[in-house]
Amino acid sequence: MTVIAVCPGSFDPVTNGHVDVIERASSRVDRLIVACLRNVGKAPLFDIDERVALVEAVTGHLPNVEVTAFSGLLVDFCRDRGVRVIVKGLRAVSDFEYELQMAQMNSRIGDVETFFLTTSPVYSFLSSSLVKEVARFGGDVSDFVPPAVVARLTERLQQRTP
Ligand code: PNS
Repeated sequence: MTVIAVCPGSFDPVTNGHVDVIERASSRVDRLIVACLRNVGKAPLFDIDERVALVEAVTGHLPNVEVTAFSGLLVDFCRDRGVRVIVKGLRAVSDFEYELQMAQMNSRIGDVETFFLTTSPVYSFLSSSLVKEVARFGGDVSDFVPPAVVARLTERLQQRTP
């Protein structure tokens, strides 16, 4: 049986924690589709093309990984692509409640099962939001995001500085 899974997210921007989950998930499935949500609630720092390009850049060493954008319901994307498995990283108990709700809803409305990977402990505190906050105030984020992302973050935040 060929197992295709989707790893969805906002990826604004992709962090080392995301890369870790993508690497580990891709080693256990035949094909992994990393699906970047086009319309994230609040205005993203990076537009969808930039987010997809950054995820592509940092997962280029993984031959069975495809990166794409999606809009609307994740279950519709899964149905269109013939995918019945979602993979998500679980960092801490605080993630659990919302992830549980989403997993149950996706199972109910789309017959798609969610498999959780616990994040590596070194990344359990990491989130795109915190990375952006640290970078915005001039902090060093090079331990938290791949070099390509550090460069784009610096560039983007400089553009925003009056
Ligand atoms: O990286 P994030 O922001 O935690 O990712 C959240 C994401 C993109 C996985 C979630 O918001 C999502 O699947 N959005 C698509 C809309 C949808 O299907 N909503 C119903 C979920 S039950």
